[in-house]
Order: sequence, then C-alpha cells, then structure tokens
Amino acid sequence: GSEALRNLLLGKIRDVPDHPKPGVLFKDITPLLADPEAFTALTDALAGLAEERGATKVVGLEARGFILAAPVAVRAGIGFVPVRKAGKLPGATLSQAYELEYGGAEIEIHAEDLDPGDRVLVIDDVLATGGTAEAALRLIRRAGAQVAGVAVLMELGFLPGRTRLEAELGGAPLDVL
Ligand code: PRP
Repeated sequence: GSEALRNLLLGKIRDVPDHPKPGVLFKDITPLLADPEAFTALTDALAGLAEERGATKVVGLEARGFILAAPVAVRAGIGFVPVRKAGKLPGATLSQAYELEYGGAEIEIHAEDLDPGDRVLVIDDVLATGGTAEAALRLIRRAGAQVAGVAVLMELGFLPGRTRLEAELGGAPLDVL
C-alpha cells in the first residue's frame, strides 16, 4: 500500500491502553469505520488486493474481520464467507481448535460455502499471535479450497504472528496495508 493510504488509515486507529485487560494496548478501528473517506479507501485497497491475488472468495474473521471483508466482497464482485467462533454457525461446519496466549479457542466455517476451485483471501483487522489466521487457513485447506493470501490492516510487530503463519500460508502472501 502507499504511504498516504497508510497515514490516512492508521491516523484513524485509536490506541486504548489496558483494554480488555491491564497491560493490553487495544487497537480500536471504530474511528476508521465512522469515517467514510477512510473506510472507502480501505475497502478499495483490499478489493484491489483481492483482484491482484486472483481471489474468488473473501473470508472474514469474527468479528471485526466481518466488517472489513463484507464490503470488499461486494466491491470485488466475489463471495463473502464468515469464519465464526465455535457454536454460532447453524449448518454443517468444519472446526479448528488453536492455542492462544492463555488457553485455547475454536473457530468454524460452513464447508459448503467454499468450492474446491476457490482461491480465498483472509481479511482481518489485526494480526497479533497469528493463531486465529493460522486456524482459518487450516479450515480453508480442509474445505479443499486454495489460499490466496492473508490481508490485515495492522500487524503487532512485537508478536511473532508472521512467523506462526508462514507454514500454513505455504508461499501465499501476507499483506499488511
Ligand atoms: C482479535 C482480532 C483478530 C485476532 C488476532 O479478535 O480482531 O481476529 O484477535 O489475534 P491473534 O493473531 O493473536 O489470533 P478477537 O478475538 O478480539 O475477536 P472479536 O473481533 O470478535 O472481538
């Protein structure tokens, strides 16, 4: 992405200290979402990336990834598929458990939403430990689809998310705007 775009977008991220717990610096994207110029610029950039990567679907990761990925799907003219926290999707799901800093988590996808020929771009706001994105890539591969890449707005550089993702990316790109 360009420097001007980055400045526009990152200038609209609010740092909230000690949320949701002491010691955590929360990256709040709601000011960006409330700004039509910034939200449109972000959507356009991600839609351009989806086209560049030859994506036929975008996967959004609950919850903030939904907000970013859905307009990208519409703009790029491709499908949107949600990856949700376990227990939310009503149909036949694939589930993937993964480890977080404290304890574990589990996410799910509707297997039938992906076709074997699909190339899937995963979209989220933040890459932290990389655990969520890694599990999402596993789900996409288990559903028989291909990984077109992962695109995030921000990467928390002090956490080894990029390294954790590497194997599951299998050579597909990680784009940070
Ligand atoms: C945050 C963020 C990413 C994930 C990144 O979501 O939006 O999805 O954590 O962390 P990781 O790289 O360490 O896996 P959160 O779990 O807070 O979900 P929410 O958007 O539903 O609040």
